Amino acid sequence: MQKLVIRGGRRLEGEITVQGAKNSALPIAAATLLCDGVSRLENCPRLSDVYAACRILTNLGCHCEMQGNVVTVDASSMHASEIPEQFMCEMRSSIIFLGAVLGRMGSCTLGYPGGCELGPRPINLHLQALRRMGVKIREENGVLYCTTPNGLHGAKIHLRFPSVGATENILLAAVTASGETTITNAAREPEIVDLVCYLRACGACISGEGTGTICISGVKRLSGCTYRIMPDRIVAATWLAAVAATGGEILLRQVRCADMASILDVFEEMNCHVSAGEDSIRFHTGKNLHPVGLLKTMPYPGFPTDAQAIMMAALCRANGTTLVEETIFENRFRHVDALVKMGADIQVAGRVAAVHGVKNLHGAAVEATDLRGGAAMMIAGLCASGETIIHDVYHIDRGYETPEEVLRSIGAEIIRK
Ligand code: UD1
Repeated sequence: MQKLVIRGGRRLEGEITVQGAKNSALPIAAATLLCDGVSRLENCPRLSDVYAACRILTNLGCHCEMQGNVVTVDASSMHASEIPEQFMCEMRSSIIFLGAVLGRMGSCTLGYPGGCELGPRPINLHLQALRRMGVKIREENGVLYCTTPNGLHGAKIHLRFPSVGATENILLAAVTASGETTITNAAREPEIVDLVCYLRACGACISGEGTGTICISGVKRLSGCTYRIMPDRIVAATWLAAVAATGGEILLRQVRCADMASILDVFEEMNCHVSAGEDSIRFHTGKNLHPVGLLKTMPYPGFPTDAQAIMMAALCRANGTTLVEETIFENRFRHVDALVKMGADIQVAGRVAAVHGVKNLHGAAVEATDLRGGAAMMIAGLCASGETIIHDVYHIDRGYETPEEVLRSIGAEIIRK
């Protein structure tokens, strides 16, 4: 198992071009199988989850290859509608293939996604919505058998919670279904908007993305196109948090500041200086990091759950107390033990963590518990004195392209062993 070894305490300074967004590349990769002709997806991050999505497409009979950061998919030879269990285990977000496979093949068999490191990940909202669109679902021994005896049809769907995954699955099923679909209380995340932009470029008829009401008018066919995946706002936030924690300055290139408003607001409240350009951010830290009172994760446009752990790592060095409340996932404080081992002062009570800032963190040997939790440990290691060893780096590799190279390029002392 690989590990990251960090010698902390160095000021970070320089420029980083931010990678493409994993959470946009994955649903768009699933969407390619709805299209005639070839789709060419540019700016795809080279990550294990993206490779897993390519393997799923290949297994379904599509021709899929990744060269550099470009994924090319030709779905004309697709012949299968089953996603074997090994893929469902490998990548939790493989559930977003369900809507697309149903749209293309009219049926789909797939393993029931279990829980994950963040706690239970139910899909009841996905399944309820698909049933309204004419999907019959039978579950047997953890396998879901989904069929559409009378075809897929549009429906009015109200989501109890603006689930990102459910919104994506409904969109993917609805674009080639007969009739109109309306989703109310839809997720408004920028990655949903990116998926819609891709689908529209392929010929889909959709309006309202980025708002709580999305309308989809089914079309007969979609044709593949060339599309550039949006920048990863969580990766961008991670590099900013690393710089905030170490007291440096940075120019981020290829970012969309508007998508990051809730994150940038928090950095400003922490006494960091943010100067947002059209597709860049200049950022430097003030003398001391300030606490922010209450930091609460919310669906977009609120503060993202994916940025909770990394922001907590930076807040460990603030001169006061921040309450961090996680409202999206039940089990998303698993990084706290590692931060405490490194000298952080954090108390957890249910879904709230009280983070009392300390002057210094110190290096320790820790294990990445999940993707963003591992990134939080990386940030803590960068500002801690001495050596930090992060085991189980594969969690971090699910979301960050060669993180050690990126961080070295701005002055960090970090190697992979
Ligand atoms: C979530 C995040 C997304 C993040 C991703 C990866 C939100 C709203 N979503 O998306 O920003 O990028 O994790 O970390 O912040 N739920 C149900 N039933 C369902 C589906 C979801 O009860 O059928 C509940 C979940 O248990 C959870 C919440 O809704 O509490 C968030 O779910 P959802 O947005 O669907 O999760 P992801 O799509 O994984």
